[in-house]
Parts: sequence; C-alpha cells; structure tokens
Amino acid sequence: MLLGAMKTLCALLLLLAVCWTGAAAHGGGASVTWNREVSRLVYDKCASCHRPGGTAFSLMTYLDAQPRANEIKDAVLSRRMPPWGAIKGFGTFRNDQSLTQDQIELIRRWVDGGIRRGNNPRMLPKVPEFTEATSPVRRPARRIAGVVTLLNPLILDGLIPEKVAPGRSLRIVAMLPDGRVEPLVWLHDYDTRYAHAFLLRKPLHLPAGTTIGGVPSDSVIDLLQDPNDLGLPGSSDIPGSF
Ligand code: HEC
Repeated sequence: MLLGAMKTLCALLLLLAVCWTGAAAHGGGASVTWNREVSRLVYDKCASCHRPGGTAFSLMTYLDAQPRANEIKDAVLSRRMPPWGAIKGFGTFRNDQSLTQDQIELIRRWVDGGIRRGNNPRMLPKVPEFTEATSPVRRPARRIAGVVTLLNPLILDGLIPEKVAPGRSLRIVAMLPDGRVEPLVWLHDYDTRYAHAFLLRKPLHLPAGTTIGGVPSDSVIDLLQDPNDLGLPGSSDIPGSF
C-alpha cells in the first residue's frame, strides 16, 4: 500500500522533472529580458570594450545590442567573446572574463526567446562608468624575450604580451631551480586587437635561478611584479627591469 503510493509519487515527480527540463530546453519559463538580465551581464562582461570610446562597437543600450543579437549569440556560444586569447586550464587568472555555462545559456534564451527588452525600465542596472582609474595600472616589470634566467627572486603577479606576432601561440612556463615546472600562460592564435594582461589568481614566488621558457626571441613579454613586493631588496637590480 505504502509502496504503491510511493511508486505513484515517484512517477509524478519524474513526470514533473521531465516537463521542467523540457520547458527549459525550449526556452520556456520566465522570459529573459534586456532590462532585467542581459544588460547586467553585458555591463559586467562586455562593456569594458564594447562602449562608446572603447575598443569595439557599443553594446551599452538595448538599441545597440538588439540589431546584433544573433551575432552576439553566435560569438558567445562559440566562446569567441569575451576574447581571452589563451588556452584554458594552463595557469589560473583572476581577470578571466569568461562566461559561465549559465550565462551563455541566458544569452541563448534571450535571443531565441524574441530578444525582449522588458517593459520596466526601472529594472535596468546603473550604467557602469569607465574612468582611467579602472584600467590596469602598469606595475614595474621585467621585460623578457627568448629564454631568460632570473638572477634575483621575483614575486610574479601576471604577464603582459608586449610584442607577439598575430596568429602565434606561446606556451610560457617557469622552470624552478628545484625542478618544478609552473605553467604561466599559453597564448593561442594571438590577436593584437584583444591585447590584455593575464593576472595570476595567486602571486607566484620565483626564486633566483628560475628559467622562463617558451618566449621566442622575436616576442616580448612583460612580467608583472606583485605590488607588495616592490620593496624587495635587489628587485631593482634585475637586468632589464624598469
Ligand atoms: C577585451 C575586449 C572585449 C570584450 C571584454 C568583449 N569584446 Fe566583443 N569584440 C571586441 C573587439 C575588439 C571586437 C572586434 C570589433 C571590430 O571588429 O570592430 C569584438 C567583436 C565582437 C562581435 C562581432 C564579431 C564576432 O566575433 O562575432 C560581437 C558579436 C561581440 N564582440 C560580442 C561581445 C559580447 C557579447 C561580449 C561580452 C559577453 C564581448 N564581445 C566582450 C572586444 C571585446
């Protein structure tokens, strides 16, 4: 008797689950709007470049984004945008702007669901301001080309591709004196239009004698020093530092 009831309950729950995923797969449920969800995502992940005065066409308003909606869906689903330019999983970075699977799904639902604006403009988030201060401050760096061995310790905060030919791929590693090899960054099919810094999730201690490999002699990479490390004795006499 009890078993029978439970079986019925299970069947019902299963049916519900199937209906629910079915609805989600067809873009059903609450519809996604520009005012409520998409503007927030775009301000957060795209507007640093896609704004008036930025490096690419503006996506700041519904009227900017609506005519490009299919292009946006395509760029986001193929993970062409936001551009990153490095192989995932090789090093971890705190400024990785990649969208989560849920965020990609949100864009897809918005476009497939009719590119809706929403009828309550008060749902719109505050327009972000981009001042000079929000662009990354360039900290003193060691500029390297070719294979380089550090004569002094360095607390590495990140890397900036300073000069890399378009289309090149560079797999940059740090070989520590104790034999460990730390992945730094693997630039892939480099595109100068999307040039940006790669800021490490955690500063990396590179002792004296560390060799940085993977930078061809015709490319130039800047090593960013941890800002808290600037007073380190001897850090100013690394050859080529400035
Ligand atoms: C680091 C800067 C940057 C970020 C962040 C960025 N873009 Fe772009 N995007 C560009 C540049 C530069 C272009 C090329 C513009 C041109 O050719 O005029 C571009 C091109 C595009 C294009 C047209 C070309 C293509 O590949 O389809 C779309 C659509 C696009 N971006 C959407 C987005 C969306 C959506 C986001 C956020 C999820 C985003 N972008 C984030 C820099 C960026």
